[in-house]
Amino acid sequence: MYRIAPSILAADFARLGEEARSVIAAGADWIHFDVMDNHYVPNLTIGPAVAAAIKPHCVTPDGKPVPLDVHLMVEPVDELASAFCSAGADLVSFHPEASRHVDRTLSMIKDANVLTGLVFNPGTSLAALEWVIDKVDLVLLMSVNPGFGGQAFIDSTLEKIAFARRLIDDSGRDIRLEVDGGIKTDNIAAVAAAGADTFVAGSAIFGADDYAKVIAEMRAELVALDEFKAAGAHE
Ligand code: DX5
Ligand code: ZN
Repeated sequence: MYRIAPSILAADFARLGEEARSVIAAGADWIHFDVMDNHYVPNLTIGPAVAAAIKPHCVTPDGKPVPLDVHLMVEPVDELASAFCSAGADLVSFHPEASRHVDRTLSMIKDANVLTGLVFNPGTSLAALEWVIDKVDLVLLMSVNPGFGGQAFIDSTLEKIAFARRLIDDSGRDIRLEVDGGIKTDNIAAVAAAGADTFVAGSAIFGADDYAKVIAEMRAELVALDEFKAAGAHE
């Protein structure tokens, strides 16, 4: 099952709760929450207090909870990871090179009953996964260099997605493969075809007047891809 995760980095920060509710009503599956510390990345965003404030707004119009997907672009990681677990995050992802002890950080997040994710920059190898994949619930591949919304998708990510898909399938574990940066209606199918199942989109969704229309167009691209694949399988 595909998941579309709008990044509230591109939302109106003065109305975050309302923005979360409207993008969920428009069909979002997760809320992607970008945390930047002006140290690991050259930008500064929102912290655990904002996550706690937005959490009650992460619900569908009929009251079903929607996962709060926290993407930490911070160094060091542990203290903030634990603060976000307490603030109500459903997933906490971090960049392995920003943590001195990756296994310890993953264990800490798991012990808080929160799903774990490892994030890889465009230039970072997936080697850090090798010995900890049993503790990972999500692999997040950056298709831009982290720090800003609205950047162009880096094409070499497609090959990396296919590589990550093979690693995940070989592990036999139920691990989501999320891609973040520059995803739009016109490239989401290529990202899915390469093997991703979860798509972060900031400017493509929040930059549009009609969130529901963009999300519906993205889903239509994914449905068309699946139909194309199914047709191929029957030939
Ligand atoms: C970048 C963030 C992304 C960003 C994506 O560092 O991690 O989540 O918001 O924004 P777009 O979709 O505009 O590239
Ligand atoms: Zn992100």
